[in-house]
Amino acid sequence: MRKTVSPRTYRVESFGCQMNVYDGERMAEMLDREGIAPAADGEDADLVVLNTCHIREKASEKVYSRIGRLTKGRSDNPPLIAVAGCVAQAEGEEIMSRSDAVSMVVGPQAYHRLPAMLERAIGGLRTTDTDMPADAKFAALPARRKSAPSAFLTIQEGCDKFCTYCVVPYTRGAEISRPFSALVDEAKKLVEVGAKEITLLGQNVSAWSGEDAKGRAIGMAGLIRALAQIPELSRIRYMTSHPADMDDALIAAHGEVAKLMPFLHLPVQSGNDRVLKAMNRSHTADSYLRLLDRFRAARPDLALSGDFIVGFPRETDAEFEDTLKIVDAVGYAQAYSFKYSPRPGTPAADMDGQVATEVMDERLQRLQAALGRDQLAFNAASVGKTCDVLVDRTGKYPGQMLGKSPWLQSVHFTGDAQIGDLVRVELLEAMGSSLGGRLV
Ligand code: SAH
Ligand code: SF4
Ligand code: F3S
Repeated sequence: MRKTVSPRTYRVESFGCQMNVYDGERMAEMLDREGIAPAADGEDADLVVLNTCHIREKASEKVYSRIGRLTKGRSDNPPLIAVAGCVAQAEGEEIMSRSDAVSMVVGPQAYHRLPAMLERAIGGLRTTDTDMPADAKFAALPARRKSAPSAFLTIQEGCDKFCTYCVVPYTRGAEISRPFSALVDEAKKLVEVGAKEITLLGQNVSAWSGEDAKGRAIGMAGLIRALAQIPELSRIRYMTSHPADMDDALIAAHGEVAKLMPFLHLPVQSGNDRVLKAMNRSHTADSYLRLLDRFRAARPDLALSGDFIVGFPRETDAEFEDTLKIVDAVGYAQAYSFKYSPRPGTPAADMDGQVATEVMDERLQRLQAALGRDQLAFNAASVGKTCDVLVDRTGKYPGQMLGKSPWLQSVHFTGDAQIGDLVRVELLEAMGSSLGGRLV
């Protein structure tokens, strides 16, 4: 491979979940430290990091089409391309053979080594690093130097649940928890540089465990209570949780910690017990509903969110109807729903009875209609309330600002407010995925 000059500008493009967004921010900070500047909007970057997602087929195919577009028309001045994230972990060397344009492939647990790989790439050498070192990468990353009003903080990585459809246990490895003191330090730093809200992240965030400053064993609830002591931090959220890891202490925290926002993302995947079992989910429809009852008893205004898969192998029409039933029973404030996508190396990919695409399309449409109806109903029920909104963006129209309600709804209003302000807004009108209000 040809030698290149040192890149002056970079762009990190993150796909997939919030954990990838967090990793993308950390990689950008590392490149800043190397003296490379973020490319301006619309400008061709000298170095492009594709921080990829492997969760569904469409997500991973995106990588190769993106590489094609990045190199098109730039044969005299091609960018250095690094493929990071979960496709990098899953496909490794294969990416190198599939695309000459890629000079670095780096897994989600190895990206702290990106600067060294970059040096080799400039010298014309291609490197693949998909190690999953037991010692966490976090210590090697630079301290946080800036933050949006709403920040992500990865507290836990990996997954030991092995749902039969899912690649995450393979791309992210075994469950690990970051140490308590490192998290408190990073949270304080984020607040110092602008965060008002922190969303704690993990593939199974509530599986987090650690020891507090006095050496006592604590779980998520203990961590949340400790972070709530940071004076300038206004809001705490967390995602994503697995029903198996929710304990009484966390439920109680929802009723007692004012900074913990009334929102819970708790994927159920299906409403049918046979399908749930085949998915290797450890809950039933009923145990899931009872768990939600306990959360709602602690925090009656809790907004619920979930993930659904339609068309898991052998799912019948009647079994799919059970998913619609659980949607009706819960009344989600918002949710994500997907067509089942067979992933290489997962047990479900080899199961008999793969469901036809047309059937999945039809089920997804019906499910999304039900979820859309419930989201609108949830938003409509908020009209008339006055709540805090954390302003995070400017809107499309002059003077319009956008932010989030405690229940994670998008709220827009016109008025004198700055990004980062926590303002009181009266909610006046409800749309499918947002609300309009006015400053009070
Ligand atoms: N750790 C989280 C999120 C995992 S990935 C959890 O357990 O909930 C996010 C969502 O993608 C999953 O909740 C699931 O709904 C969906 N998903 C995962 N694998 C999938 C597959 N093979 N096909 C379709 N959807 C999938
Ligand atoms: Fe995937 Fe299941 Fe783990 Fe979630 S709990 S990341 S769906 S294996
Ligand atoms: Fe995708 Fe990896 Fe996240 S597969 S959803 S980026 S953990």
